Amino acid sequence: MKDELRSLASLAGPFPPFDPDAAAGEPRELFATWLRDAIDAGIREPHAMTLSTVDETGLPDARILILKNLDDRGWHFATTNAGPKGRQIAVNPYVALTFYWPSLGRQVRIRGVALDSGTTERDADFRARSAGARAVALLSRQSDPLLSESELDDGLRRQRQRLAADPDLVAPNWAVFVVMPHEVEFWQGDTERRHMRLRYRRDRTGWIKERLWP
Ligand SMILES: Cc1cc2nc3c(=O)[nH]c(=O)nc-3n(C[C@H](O)[C@H](O)[C@H](O)COP(=O)(O)O)c2cc1C
Repeated sequence: MKDELRSLASLAGPFPPFDPDAAAGEPRELFATWLRDAIDAGIREPHAMTLSTVDETGLPDARILILKNLDDRGWHFATTNAGPKGRQIAVNPYVALTFYWPSLGRQVRIRGVALDSGTTERDADFRARSAGARAVALLSRQSDPLLSESELDDGLRRQRQRLAADPDLVAPNWAVFVVMPHEVEFWQGDTERRHMRLRYRRDRTGWIKERLWP
């Protein structure tokens, strides 16, 4: 395995240029540009990101989620708040988000606080989901141990029937969280490993931009 891993290419390039001095004074604009670049480059699921949380014993946890929106409050994601990540955020709302766009050699790291964005956004997000996705969410059992496939099949059938009878139904545990950042780092990989790193740090007066050593 070790030799096989060593033989795999990483950060092979070529990568686009990145001029940190030309970047905006706040991170959202640069993030939107990089996300658009990833979409235009044809990267699959460019809106997939790793959400890292900390559990009640202080141990880290992480999983991939889909970015649902980006606005002046921050980065939005949708999930059930009844499962592990929802419980972890309830105890400790400090989270991190990580994006990686391989063919561009770009990574973005965001650290911030996750806040529940409220029922209006939650309801709209839930109703925009596919019927299958809504049925699964209505089960409200995410990450519980699954003891029988037929229990899952029966549960899904029941939830689909409920949705057919009441298409506006919203899972009570559904939530949209918005991550309000206090630190955002943009990392542009370089084939010679002279990576270009730009970090935005929020202080009382606004955003501080600083270059980091590779
Ligand atoms: C590409 C991808 C996208 C995903 N998107 C979501 C999502 O938007 N919301 C969600 O709750 N889970 C999503 N998941 C599943 C999560 O990674 C995770 O398995 C699930 O949310 C349970 O996490 P938890 O046990 O830490 O609460 C996605 C997984 C993948 C691989």
